[in-house]
Amino acid sequence: MAIEVEKLNFKYNGKDNMDFSITDLSFKTEENSIYALTGNNGAGKTTILRLLVGLLKPLSGNIKIYGEDLTRNKHHLWRIRQKIGFLFQNPDDQLFAPTIQEDVGFAARNLKLDEGEVQKRVEWALKAVNLLEYKSQSPFNLSWGQKKRAALAGLLVMKPKLLILDEPFANLDFISIYNHLKIIEELRKTEKMTILFTSHNLFFVENWATKVLVIDRGRGIFEGAPSEGLIKSEVRKLLGSYEEIKELIDQNK
Ligand SMILES: Nc1ncnc2c1ncn2[C@@H]1O[C@H](COP(=O)(O)OP(=O)(O)OP(=O)(O)O)[C@@H](O)[C@H]1O
Ligand SMILES: [Mg+2]
Repeated sequence: MAIEVEKLNFKYNGKDNMDFSITDLSFKTEENSIYALTGNNGAGKTTILRLLVGLLKPLSGNIKIYGEDLTRNKHHLWRIRQKIGFLFQNPDDQLFAPTIQEDVGFAARNLKLDEGEVQKRVEWALKAVNLLEYKSQSPFNLSWGQKKRAALAGLLVMKPKLLILDEPFANLDFISIYNHLKIIEELRKTEKMTILFTSHNLFFVENWATKVLVIDRGRGIFEGAPSEGLIKSEVRKLLGSYEEIKELIDQNK
């Protein structure tokens, strides 16, 4: 298994009764598979991903990444993290270097690859996300969608065993989505990469993921094949549907 989560509990200590919890969450992600997390705004998807990469500490429960216990100790966490590429929902949380090529090369240098290999991977990743011509510019002057593409390039250079993507398709144009899927699928074949992604877009959940976990207020309410889950009445009621929106628009034309 790439990811094993068992009876995970977590709580933010927010002000003004804004406490939010993840409650008794369990799921497993098979190696080389594509696993989706979906749910409404504020359901807890990003929180779950932060727990999975060790940015937040659970109150109780277990997380294993490729069989290794995430919560054992700090040194251990650092080693496990080197297998994980984590795309933040907001690219401004990810990018930091003065130029795009330095930013993208950072993770590869961290892996102690030789400089020739780093350069090769940076060019390859920037080409894959269609940003090669911007390589000497500051990442902060890019558009939001371009920032997200630069952030993804910074993960591709690691060729991670596990790619965790928080809303990888939000705010991107169709051709960028196509290019991202192409490079991710290529790595899934060559590196046997596993993918865990969050999305509100049920099109991607239904057509790309092999399994989906639907989250409602910090709890898993369905886990299984997307085609099965998305037709379930409680899931449809929770998430709403394309047909309902279309009907509303058509009615008001
Ligand atoms: N640092 C924090 N302290 C307190 N509460 C927080 C913190 N971060 C998030 N929350 C709360 O936790 C809940 C879940 O947030 P989270 O970002 O995980 O949701 P999400 O499912 O990713 O939503 P979205 O679809 O909008 O990305 C929200 O109610 C949010 O207000
Ligand atoms: Mg989120």
